[in-house]
Amino acid sequence: MILMKDIIREGHPTLRKVAKEVQLPLSEEDRQIALDLMEYVVNSQIDELSEKYGLRPGIGLAAPQINVSKRMFALHIEDEEGEVEEHMIAINPKIVSHSVAQSYLETGEGCLSVDRPVEGYVPRYSRITIQAYDENGELFEKRLRGLPAIAFQHELDHLDGVLFFDHIDQQAPLAPIDNARAI
Ligand code: NI
Repeated sequence: MILMKDIIREGHPTLRKVAKEVQLPLSEEDRQIALDLMEYVVNSQIDELSEKYGLRPGIGLAAPQINVSKRMFALHIEDEEGEVEEHMIAINPKIVSHSVAQSYLETGEGCLSVDRPVEGYVPRYSRITIQAYDENGELFEKRLRGLPAIAFQHELDHLDGVLFFDHIDQQAPLAPIDNARAI
């Protein structure tokens, strides 16, 4: 089970590496890593388990964040009513097309590998069509918008050694972004 002590923080070199493609067919070891990432994000959003194990709540976790430089991540997003909005293991994920329009989270972004609050807007594509392999090694395609689209792009960045604050305008972190919608 992944715990906070297993999650590496900014400054660790693995977070700045371009992660390697996962070999297919999927090995049992890689499949287990993907399932462990998902287990963390699900458990971290259950109050009882997050308190019991000291898990900081997160909606996404990428393999490089547990010091495994491979192209995979897990997302689990629930809406305010607790309905599952997105639940995805993404192995060798790609964005195959995206909107011109951009969106950003009005509250800014956070990251389990960043222990300090970072103020600033992070522009992301509003809508994306993605392809990835799931935990059974099956290719799937999906359209995402809203928070799931933003979270997917945040996690995909981790596979390329990019952290969310790299996208923030350091001169004007909270300046309105042209043609981008706040959500
Ligand atoms: Ni992150």
